Amino acid sequence: MAKLAIVSALLDEQKGLLDQLQQPTKRIRAGRSFWSGQWAGHDVVLVLSKVGKVAAASTTVTLIEAFGVERVLFTGVAGGIGEGVKVGDVVVADAFIQHDMDSGPLFPRYEIPLYGRSTLDCDASLSAILFEAVKLGLTGVGDHFHRTSLLEAPNVHRGLIASGDQFVCDPSDVDCLRAGLQSAGHAPLAVEMEGAAVAQVCYDYGIPFAAVRTISDRADAQAHMDFSAFVQQVASPYALAIVSQFMKKLQK
Ligand code: ADE
Repeated sequence: MAKLAIVSALLDEQKGLLDQLQQPTKRIRAGRSFWSGQWAGHDVVLVLSKVGKVAAASTTVTLIEAFGVERVLFTGVAGGIGEGVKVGDVVVADAFIQHDMDSGPLFPRYEIPLYGRSTLDCDASLSAILFEAVKLGLTGVGDHFHRTSLLEAPNVHRGLIASGDQFVCDPSDVDCLRAGLQSAGHAPLAVEMEGAAVAQVCYDYGIPFAAVRTISDRADAQAHMDFSAFVQQVASPYALAIVSQFMKKLQK
C-alpha cells in the first residue's frame, strides 16, 4: 500500500484532519510534528510544512526520505488571481509555476534552472480523484455556507497555480504577476507560497502529487483582514470534507 502524505502549511488548515487519524503516533523531525496513522484503511502521514517554498521543500524531502511516503496531497488556502475565481471557490491544481523564479539572463524567465521547464504537472489520476472528491465534499459543506449567506455557492476550478515567497496583497502586484506570467504563456488561477516547491521535490523523486486550495482572498488589500477567520470557519471544514471524500475514493 503506497503511503500518502497530507501536507498543509498552517495549523488551521490541518485542523479536523488530525482527528480522523486512527492509531496516531507522533515523531518530531526537522522541527516538525509528523503524525502517522490510518485513514479509511490507508497509511497516512500528516504534517504542517510551515510557510514558504523552502519550508515546503524541506518537509517534502523529510516525508519521502524519513517516512517513506510514495504520494503527496497538499491542502490549504490561496489567493484567487484568475478571472472568476472568487473567495470560497476551490482550485484543484493541474500544474505549478514559481512566479518569483528569474535566473535571467542565464535562463528564460520562470524556467527552473537545469530542469528545462517552467511548470511542473500534478499527477493526472490523483488530481482526477481529488476533483471528484471536491465536487462531492462541497455539496454538503458548500450548501451550508450558501444557506447561511456566508458565501456564494462555491465553484470548483482546475488549472495552474503560481507559488512564490510572497503573501500577495496588492492589486498592482497581482497585475504585474499576471502580466509577466501571461507574456510567457501562463494563466494562473491562484497564488500561494508552497505548492511549486512540493511539486519540484515530488518531480525529483518521481512521486505523484496533487493539491487543492480553497480561495481565502483575492490577493488585494483585504487579503490579510479576514484571513484567520476564513481559514477557521470555511477552509478548515472544506478541507475535512474534501480529504474525507478523497480518502474514500483513493485506491490502496
Ligand atoms: N495564501 C492565501 N492567500 C494568499 C495570498 N494572497 N498570497 C500568497 N499566499 C496566499
